[in-house]
Amino acid sequence: MIDAIDIESLSETDKLHIWNAGRAELTTKPGADRLARLADTECRRWQTKNPILAAVMQACGTWSRYWNEEESFHEATLNHLSSLIGLEPVSNETFIEFRQIFPDDDMLRTLVLLALSEIVASANYSYCASLAKDSGLKKLFKQIAADESQHMSYFISFAKALVDSGEYSPKGALAVAHLFLREGGEIHGSYRQKIEQRQTHVNWWDSLKVEALQTDGPVEIERKANLIFAALKQITGIHFSSAAEVEEKWLEMVGC
Ligand SMILES: [Fe+2]
Ligand SMILES: [Fe+2]
Repeated sequence: MIDAIDIESLSETDKLHIWNAGRAELTTKPGADRLARLADTECRRWQTKNPILAAVMQACGTWSRYWNEEESFHEATLNHLSSLIGLEPVSNETFIEFRQIFPDDDMLRTLVLLALSEIVASANYSYCASLAKDSGLKKLFKQIAADESQHMSYFISFAKALVDSGEYSPKGALAVAHLFLREGGEIHGSYRQKIEQRQTHVNWWDSLKVEALQTDGPVEIERKANLIFAALKQITGIHFSSAAEVEEKWLEMVGC
């Protein structure tokens, strides 16, 4: 797909999108490595108590292999394109920092976090595609957006299976959604005034360099929020149409 891109014609915004996305994709490997390990641990935990749930966990761990391969294609393509354009290469320091594996968390929260991360990624790539004038670059961004959207569907399906099993409370899904939707939440990415400083891992959406982009703020916020509401409906069966409703239901479920 790179051969179809006329590198000389790319705008500064296109270049920044490619560079940012290449760095962001570096965090997908630790995400997938962690998911594979966690899914197998969960499979063993449920094997005798709930064999169907154990099978779901193993299916999720197995699928993560194909997910990781697709993300590696994104990472390699975007970073190779970045080097062809002559953009600043990823330093060893950044590479090692972005490869940190996230601390383990509850499986439902993990799956919902990944589903929401894919929502944000897909919307961002669609936005990049909409601005790209070069037909080859537009096609590449659209393809990656479609891949991320498909990943989202898988994560939603696995999360739904966990809730449907009755072994995981939907409040875990709402907790993660609230983290994204709350005022100053993750959905605003690196446009936020205050970003949590972590020593444990890198959330790609916190690490995008946005100063040079000619946008007034985070892009496609409404679309991302609506996609999160749709994901919650599929996972929990509960209809939401605002961040406040999600927060209210979540607080109700945790007993506040
Ligand atoms: Fe990706
Ligand atoms: Fe993805």
